[in-house]
Amino acid sequence: MTAVPESTEWPIGKLLTWTTGYFTTHQIDEPRLSAELLLAHVLACSRMALYTRYDEIAPAEKIRAFKELVKRRREREPVAYLTGKAWFFSLEFSVSPAVLIPRPDTETLVEQAVSILRGGPPNANLLDLCTGSGCVALAVIKNVPDARAVATDISDPALQIAKNNAAAIGLAERVDFFSGDLYAALGDAPPRRFDVITANPPYIPSQAIDTLMPEVSRFEPRLALDGGSDGLQLIGRIINDSPHYLAAEGYLLLETGCDQTEQAAELIAATGQFSPARIVTDSAGHRRCVIARRLNLGVSA
Ligand SMILES: C[S@@+](CC[C@H](N)C(=O)[O-])C[C@H]1O[C@@H](n2cnc3c(N)ncnc32)[C@H](O)[C@@H]1O
Repeated sequence: MTAVPESTEWPIGKLLTWTTGYFTTHQIDEPRLSAELLLAHVLACSRMALYTRYDEIAPAEKIRAFKELVKRRREREPVAYLTGKAWFFSLEFSVSPAVLIPRPDTETLVEQAVSILRGGPPNANLLDLCTGSGCVALAVIKNVPDARAVATDISDPALQIAKNNAAAIGLAERVDFFSGDLYAALGDAPPRRFDVITANPPYIPSQAIDTLMPEVSRFEPRLALDGGSDGLQLIGRIINDSPHYLAAEGYLLLETGCDQTEQAAELIAATGQFSPARIVTDSAGHRRCVIARRLNLGVSA
């Protein structure tokens, strides 16, 4: 099967059916959904609207643009990078190849942070490390109206996307962004204390990255994936330094790989600064988050 065949007339319904078959032949995940998202993007309409326009003939220039995206999808470029959009926690985020595409798995981290902040003192401060598109920080404070966030990342292009998302969602006034390596992004001043620290850091073992599906290994930023030889390099650093940045009785919430939660919990225990960590599973039933509360030891660091 070649790319969308030349034909004078392509009603929207026929285009969707043909493309679904084409993606199926090329073993592209969720072929119908991919076809709908790409066509809706090109026609600047919603997926639902495609169904009310089933018999409409698509304009030739739109077909050309769609063919180009279909070709790129066949080469396994993720739909979210082709459309520049991803949905996360019922919010639309702009994405580019500078940021990880927000995952449904990560919504567990957000749910837990929202629940902790809603049950805590008012006007809480959140620190979101490794913010990428900003999806975690922004989804959390969107759902906790009196909370503020500081969000950091080592990648300036990622931070630019996160800032754009904050503005688009109407949260720019409630979040500050800083660039740098983990906590170093916060500067040299005496450490600020946060009520909650969240992070979805890179946690794939370096040597496993090339074995992942091509959508991930070839297109998502290595900086967002690579957690060092055991995958725990960033997780370990975040845990070890967290007591300096957490308020007494503040919470540390980390997303990890499903086979890393126990090790993360042990690293947390080894600091001697936290009550025993709790492990939370995601909606797919995988162990996904590690949550620990800092003890109130009556010391400031
Ligand atoms: C797995 S992505 C998570 C992005 C976003 N929080 C999410 O959940 O979709 C990890 C992010 O960590 C950033 N990162 C990698 N190394 C870092 C470091 N040493 N300090 C700060 N951020 C880092 C990457 O640029 C990337 O944006």
